[in-house]
Amino acid sequence: MNNNDLNIVVLGASGDLARKKIFPSLFSLFCQGFLPKNSKFFGFSRSKYSHEEFREKITADLTCRYTPGESCAENMQNFLDCCFYQNGNYDSSDAFLNLYELMSEKSNVSKASRLFYYAIPPSLFGVVAKSIGDSGLVLCGSCGEQWSRTVIEKPFGRDRASSDRLTEELSAVFIEEQIYRIDHYLGKEMVQNIQVTRFANEIFKPLWRAQHIARVDIVWGEDIGVEGRGGYFDDYGIIRDVVQNHLLQILALVAMDEPASLAANHIRDQKVKLLRSIKVLTPEDVVIGQYSAGVLNGRKVEAYRDDPTVADDSLTPTFTKVQLTIDNDRWRGVPFTISAGKGVAEKLSEIRIKFHASDSNIFCSTGACPPPNELIIRIQPNEGIHLNIVNKKPGVKMDFHTEKLDLSYNKAYKENIIPDAYESLILDVIREEKALFIRKDELEAAWDIFTPVLHYLEENKVEPKMYPFGTNGMM
Ligand code: BG6
Repeated sequence: MNNNDLNIVVLGASGDLARKKIFPSLFSLFCQGFLPKNSKFFGFSRSKYSHEEFREKITADLTCRYTPGESCAENMQNFLDCCFYQNGNYDSSDAFLNLYELMSEKSNVSKASRLFYYAIPPSLFGVVAKSIGDSGLVLCGSCGEQWSRTVIEKPFGRDRASSDRLTEELSAVFIEEQIYRIDHYLGKEMVQNIQVTRFANEIFKPLWRAQHIARVDIVWGEDIGVEGRGGYFDDYGIIRDVVQNHLLQILALVAMDEPASLAANHIRDQKVKLLRSIKVLTPEDVVIGQYSAGVLNGRKVEAYRDDPTVADDSLTPTFTKVQLTIDNDRWRGVPFTISAGKGVAEKLSEIRIKFHASDSNIFCSTGACPPPNELIIRIQPNEGIHLNIVNKKPGVKMDFHTEKLDLSYNKAYKENIIPDAYESLILDVIREEKALFIRKDELEAAWDIFTPVLHYLEENKVEPKMYPFGTNGMM
């Protein structure tokens, strides 16, 4: 395998995702020397730019987080010198032949592997795959010296059937081993840490089951609304936007059985097994809400329906609370909930694992039984792990209260930079490490849980309950 030459093609290069996430992450990897020596970056989209104009466009979002100081300007220049741009229509194989010519001119094209990053709306996935395929740009998965891989971003369809169609369109050009379905939450530091917390700490293994755990709540909130993204969001809603993917993935990592090894397929096998044990949701399991006008930090915010990019009578949920039931021996009887809301009081993502309390504890004789323990994994902001334990208040009396054992990352890992999720994930694509990417059967299992209830809500035009922007009323 030639590990020195790589061409990374970013489709949708003029869009927000490419500018704010993909190029800054590529730059961070470049600065740290993690990319192959001769890596070249090719932006592709419809807009017309010269190479120089394109470089200017992406520069604003590049930061030297890992290599501040004098080397910053030099690193930036070296990186930008390797960035090129090609415009063209996504449905034109000629446009991709032009891209090939550019690649031939700027890189060692006969030796370089090819990574196609789809930073484009899903409606274009099939079209682009066909054009890339027709223009002969796709090399086989992992043969000879070179490889071709493709990275796609959610949403992967709107339900099981549309997701299957998308898979089919892509599979006309790429085999499953070449497809990397990104769920950027899987690249987040604390989400990657779930497996370490669970399986590297022997103390948790015997406790991780219904006998000791009373409930698990996954809570996600953003103190912003759709902010101009209503065109996309109104068609998808909060369940498709973050629950069926990001938060269900977190739940799978919290609840799955220990994999046979750290091999990608062993981990994904366990996730699929877990997802298949979750009961298909019914309307009784789901509450939906939508934010009305409100005030946050003194700022007036308009109602979701008043956003100019949203339909006036939209029924799209911006909040949901979903109750999931896992029908297996480990978890039978334990409620798992996922709550997710836009336009709530604070930005927060965390997992709360509540242990059983006991009413026959020897301390109950003091008048009150000790409260249950709780383990909290804070995904963001302020990453950390906290364990609420019962502790004796210092003093002559036998008085206890709940105290927090606090592993806050900003104290414990002051010296470490927490990488952006995209940095970890892009590097994994290059290293052919698939544990953090969604396999086809995993995607199918995730849609099977949610598809019937999503159809029910839409077909029956179920009205979401209103909550004022900036409140946690429905959490
Ligand atoms: C995206 C959703 O997948 O994740 C957005 O489409 C959401 O609606 C975003 O805001 C949240 O990501 P992060 O990394 O900012 O928590």
